[in-house]
Amino acid sequence: MLMSRRSYARGNLIDPAPNQAQLATVLQAAMTVPDHGNIKPWRFIVVQGQGIQDLSLLVQDKYAGSMSEQHLNAFVREIASTPMMIFVCSNLVLEHHVPVLDQQMAGAAACEHILLAAHALGFAGIWHSLEADDGLHRLLNLKTEDSVLGVLSIGTPKRTSRAKRKSFTEFTQTWDRKHGLQEWSP
Ligand SMILES: Cc1cc2nc3c(=O)[nH]c(=O)nc-3n(C[C@H](O)[C@H](O)[C@H](O)COP(=O)(O)O)c2cc1C
Repeated sequence: MLMSRRSYARGNLIDPAPNQAQLATVLQAAMTVPDHGNIKPWRFIVVQGQGIQDLSLLVQDKYAGSMSEQHLNAFVREIASTPMMIFVCSNLVLEHHVPVLDQQMAGAAACEHILLAAHALGFAGIWHSLEADDGLHRLLNLKTEDSVLGVLSIGTPKRTSRAKRKSFTEFTQTWDRKHGLQEWSP
């Protein structure tokens, strides 16, 4: 299952999205990620149904004038047809011995668990980043120090396919005191 996960562009995601029981499984899976200090420094904001239509209108308003009409229309259509979106936001605890980076990485791990759990249930998705401005901070009720770690679009792939993957060997070395770092050899 892990080996076949891949991202699907929003335009390739169609209904159905996970139902409420499946969504609960997906989000509970995200609660199992390694989390330094057991802080759970994240929040999940699920956007589906009417929320998706509302979001597409917000996007239309926000980018009107700053994008060509053609690009904006395509973007708005893409958002409006996305079956489900989950905004994974950080919820940092600044006065804590656990570094902020560790807290952000735990949130990033939650993003990946959501994508993997959705994949395990036969769905697919993609992770997009989103720079939060004041408007988005207000909309999502984010504290100043928080950010959107991932916008996860989830649905059913129109067609499934396998992605070609590089071998881990290019990215892996071994280490011991005598030999130092050495290229991986099985
Ligand atoms: C933190 C993070 C942010 C990302 N943001 C974007 C993004 O804004 N736009 C995009 O096209 N891909 C983004 N991606 C990459 C895709 O989600 C995807 O992983 C990539 O296209 C490779 O496809 P694969 O997952 O099938 O290997 C992001 C990935 C991560 C981990």
